[in-house]
Amino acid sequence: LKLGVLASGGGTNLQSIIDQCQQQQIDAEIVLVLCNNPGAGALDRAEKAGLPNTCINHRDFEAREAFDEAVVAALQEAGVELVVLAGFMRIISEVFVAAFPNRIINIHPALLPSFPGLHVQKKAIEYGARFSGCTVHFVDTGVDTGPIIMQAVVPILDEDTEDSLAARILQQEHKIYPRAIQLIAEDRIKIDGRRVRIDDSVD
Ligand code: GRF
Repeated sequence: LKLGVLASGGGTNLQSIIDQCQQQQIDAEIVLVLCNNPGAGALDRAEKAGLPNTCINHRDFEAREAFDEAVVAALQEAGVELVVLAGFMRIISEVFVAAFPNRIINIHPALLPSFPGLHVQKKAIEYGARFSGCTVHFVDTGVDTGPIIMQAVVPILDEDTEDSLAARILQQEHKIYPRAIQLIAEDRIKIDGRRVRIDDSVD
């Protein structure tokens, strides 16, 4: 399965996918790492791993659609079959979703549908939730609204800060995101309306 990984920041999720591809835990190959920020740590990680990478700066485009068209063109040219958003801080428009129907996934650091959007670790703590976690989901044109593939739960402790909770959640992100990608690589994921069925009849 040919992956295009899109990131805006540090890229620890990208790194976990790179590592698991290299260790052959995932039957996939990253054919493009694409960032919208020139300074993204994810670009350094791609470079270090010898992966094709490019920066398309959204600030160079007037309209979201024009940026998305450039991103789609780069992904198609690289032969990407699954688009993996890994801390990609841009909302995806209709042109992008239509170019890769049910072929774009995202990871979100909360238990959707609770706490969509930004700064969600802080929001979960301030709300007083006892548990949070992360969600891998298909991407539609909404913000964090697509069908849920996989979730992992972590406790919220009394002494938690935004950073300590984010770190606990990230550990789980690095486990479930590669796992979800592998299920897609094995064609074991079916979308049934909002519900995603995982076929575990094999092995
Ligand atoms: C992760 O928490 C992810 O869930 C969110 O953005 C963060 C990206 O972290 N969408 P990293 O760049 O993969 O380290």
